Amino acid sequence: AKQPVRVLVTGAAGQIGYALVPMIARGVMLGPDQPVILHMLDIAPAAEALNGVKMELVDAAFPLLKGVVATTDVVEACTEVNIAVMVGGFPRKEGMERKDVMSKNVAIYKSQASALEKHAAANCKVLVVANPANTNALILKEFAPSIPEKNISCLTRLDHNRALGQVSERLNVPVSDVKNVIIWGNHSSTQYPDVNHASVKTPAGEKPVRALVANDEWLHGEFITTVQQRGAAIIKARKLSSALSAASSACDHIRDWVLGTPEGTWVSMGVYSDGSYNVPAGLIYSFPVTCRNGEWTIVQGLPIDALSRKKLDLTAEELTEEKELAYSCLS
Ligand code: NAI
Repeated sequence: AKQPVRVLVTGAAGQIGYALVPMIARGVMLGPDQPVILHMLDIAPAAEALNGVKMELVDAAFPLLKGVVATTDVVEACTEVNIAVMVGGFPRKEGMERKDVMSKNVAIYKSQASALEKHAAANCKVLVVANPANTNALILKEFAPSIPEKNISCLTRLDHNRALGQVSERLNVPVSDVKNVIIWGNHSSTQYPDVNHASVKTPAGEKPVRALVANDEWLHGEFITTVQQRGAAIIKARKLSSALSAASSACDHIRDWVLGTPEGTWVSMGVYSDGSYNVPAGLIYSFPVTCRNGEWTIVQGLPIDALSRKKLDLTAEELTEEKELAYSCLS
């Protein structure tokens, strides 16, 4: 039998946490034959709610779930974890300055980086979900220097899946027949959802999305803005931010990273830029990646047209500015 994998979820008493932990316990993240031990962290005001989630996990009698650690102690939470999904953070409240929110999150990610660095299992893989996701991941990377940079990522898979969903609805094809969209850059409204290399499985073979969606105007306009602003649209409709789709996408992100992407398919992940596609090195930026043997590789050599170039640069500029803001919070 396989040894259990320890999976940390921070902010586990929150909305995404509540959707995510049962998925992990059911094998959605790591596969139906992989036992797991859940580590759940939240802060003291949420301790009672967190314990309630633990009680429900016990009550659900998940066969794959071999243990639950529910704690407000960062060190206990991080000890020996193999996967860390960082959902906890400080939300932006009405009237708050961007810098104040950044400063709270920089402090959180700096201290959690140290705890992971000291106490997580060797080769622990980290996924940051909490916003500002790319910059929180960058801070985590900077303050956990012994964790290899290839092990630190942020979630843009939700945006990627949203783009697949929009194409599927537009063409009236199953979403599983659409592949190879790309989310470039920041998990924010400056992200660039790119369909220039995406394709659809049809009875006559694989066809480019560009050839099937005759309406260029839709591809250049509404498609992009719908994906960029989908988070806000969900908040408007639900009066709460995306949770089930965020949780499901976090599972997709880790599953593909650990178990590999299907042949001929890439996904989007926020990863440490090495300068590919002339994106400044040293940003956590969303790229198209393939995964094999537990490691991601940026897809190389895709032609980038002039319009796309501008959009890649715009979102990089925003990330550079966020990075500066984050650093100014450190001093
Ligand atoms: P939520 O407010 O329901 O839950 C957040 C939880 O984090 C709360 O239980 C809170 O007590 C906890 N928390 C706060 N500080 C913490 C700390 N220092 N350590 C551990 N836990 C802490 O929020 P929700 O809806 O679950 O969203 C979580 C985060 O995910 C937010 O930052 C949100 O903006 C982000 N998000 C990111 C998405 C992405 O695609 N990257 C998509 C959707 C949400």
